[in-house]
Amino acid sequence: MVASLTLSDQILTTRYPTNSTGGNMTADKACVETDGRISLDRRAFFKTAALTGVAAVLTAVPLVTYVIAPALKKGSGKWIDFGPFDRLDAGAIEMLSYEFMVKDGWLVLPQRGFVWAKFDGPENITVFSSTCTHLACNVIWRKEKEIFECPCHSGRFDKDGRPISGPPTRPLVVLDHKVEEGKLMVFMTA
Ligand code: FES
Repeated sequence: MVASLTLSDQILTTRYPTNSTGGNMTADKACVETDGRISLDRRAFFKTAALTGVAAVLTAVPLVTYVIAPALKKGSGKWIDFGPFDRLDAGAIEMLSYEFMVKDGWLVLPQRGFVWAKFDGPENITVFSSTCTHLACNVIWRKEKEIFECPCHSGRFDKDGRPISGPPTRPLVVLDHKVEEGKLMVFMTA
């Protein structure tokens, strides 16, 4: 079963123009005289262009860092409502998908993904992160084999999230959850 959720936070997008240095080769050729010398005016042009390029790099890096870094900040999170938990099949492991917006300063970024819920009764629910503990690909539950499988480097985890083969050495992360008014709430970090 797939449960989806969309929160109604406001969306704001920001675009950053990228610099291009693709014209330099043409300029270099045009500024070399037929006897191989470079004219003084053109040397001044090169000097100005070089200084402008350095200045652009020096100012662009802190600007991009200032705008983007807060959105990448870890540690913040929120409770996500996955709906009535009694829709989960007893004894099954099911994918629950989510989508919400994370607003941080100037940026609002979409956060999408899914978790795996293991349901053994209302008092016995385990919610696994779908993120592989090797290099963060999404793991898939293989019901027929009763394992979580990672497509990237063939990492495998048992039904309790423990690594059993491949590169992963750490178990799947178990997410905090609670049941409120019959609904499964899971704490997701941004
Ligand atoms: S990312 Fe999962 S095995 Fe490498």
